[in-house]
Amino acid sequence: MVTTASDPVSVARRFQDKLWRHRMLPMVQKMFTALQCRYQDKQSLQQWRKIRNMVHWSPFLQCFKKKYPWVQLAGHAGNFKAGEGGTILKKHCNREAKCLKKLMGDLLRSYVPEYKGDVERDGEKFMEMEDLLGDFDTPAVMDCKMGVRTYLEDELVKARSNPKLRKDMYQKMIEIDPTEPTKEENAAKAVTKPRYMVWRESISSTSTLGFRIEGIKKSDGQSSRDYKMTKTKEQVAEAFKFFTDGNQSLQKKYVQKLMALRATLENSTFFQSHEVIGSSLLFVHDKEGSHVGVSLIDFGKTMSMPEGQKLDHRLAWKEGNREDGYLCGLDNMIAVFNTLAECEEQNLAEEF
Ligand SMILES: Nc1ncnc2c1ncn2[C@@H]1O[C@H](COP(=O)(O)OP(=O)(O)O)[C@@H](O)[C@H]1O
Ligand SMILES: [Mg+2]
Repeated sequence: MVTTASDPVSVARRFQDKLWRHRMLPMVQKMFTALQCRYQDKQSLQQWRKIRNMVHWSPFLQCFKKKYPWVQLAGHAGNFKAGEGGTILKKHCNREAKCLKKLMGDLLRSYVPEYKGDVERDGEKFMEMEDLLGDFDTPAVMDCKMGVRTYLEDELVKARSNPKLRKDMYQKMIEIDPTEPTKEENAAKAVTKPRYMVWRESISSTSTLGFRIEGIKKSDGQSSRDYKMTKTKEQVAEAFKFFTDGNQSLQKKYVQKLMALRATLENSTFFQSHEVIGSSLLFVHDKEGSHVGVSLIDFGKTMSMPEGQKLDHRLAWKEGNREDGYLCGLDNMIAVFNTLAECEEQNLAEEF
């Protein structure tokens, strides 16, 4: 049946929808909050959890599921705002906006959040893009920063031309490894920026494996951003196992997704002609591990190469060649996920 905006069915539907949004939903939300407070006061958290779980699968309150808070795993706090209709707003950056625009016409399009253009909020400019968590209920999310370095060659050159001693970087360094500074650095209680930049890449898997884990948040709420010193394949595999809850079929799904992404990257005009630095792969799956996604995000440090020049993304980086090691990172990531899935298979076989 074809309906028009003014036919009785559409009018009734709009009325129902309005009634729900404006009258019933606020009432239910108030009730929900009051219940939560009451149970927290009495510290009967277990009872509260029971009620909350009931509410979660009650079809009447499906909308609460959709209200699952948006997760920001890495990056600068305060860079994001909620958009409308399944979008998020990220603070505007010319370089990133330019990349997103180009990517909308590239083979990689289905692997990046859909870019809707720029908008203004409270006098500030934002890029409006698809929320990659929008289609998921209680998603598990992991951010892996790709490449053998996370600074641009330009940044290193600039930092070297002005090698000021930085006390803040010395502090960050000793918080992670108090044995790292040299005698002179300890005496000055400061390090130079290039020294700090190069050291930071060497303590994680960035310089050896070509990617590093930035953060993980699981469906059950467990999360961690403590991967600054996760370096070896074994340590990374342990973190991937935590992220996937040791679910072998989910690990295999990620292997398939990553292999498809690799094939697309190898044929993408955008990828061949850009130095991709500081960009991440965002992994998302639902609680059951049936719905899985891998997408490229963060193009704030992605630079186009001069006309006609291409990057290989697997060649070793030598200052001046601008290689980023992105595909080495992806190869290693696939290998780690693959080994993990095979180990789970072996464990299962041993159990029988
Ligand atoms: N389109 C998106 N959909 C869902 N989550 C996103 C999206 N873009 C970014 N995020 C979340 O925000 C975090 C930081 O994003 P990123 O673009 O890397 O910001 P920054 O430029 O501040 O590093 C990511 O780790 C991810 O959790
Ligand atoms: Mg980032």
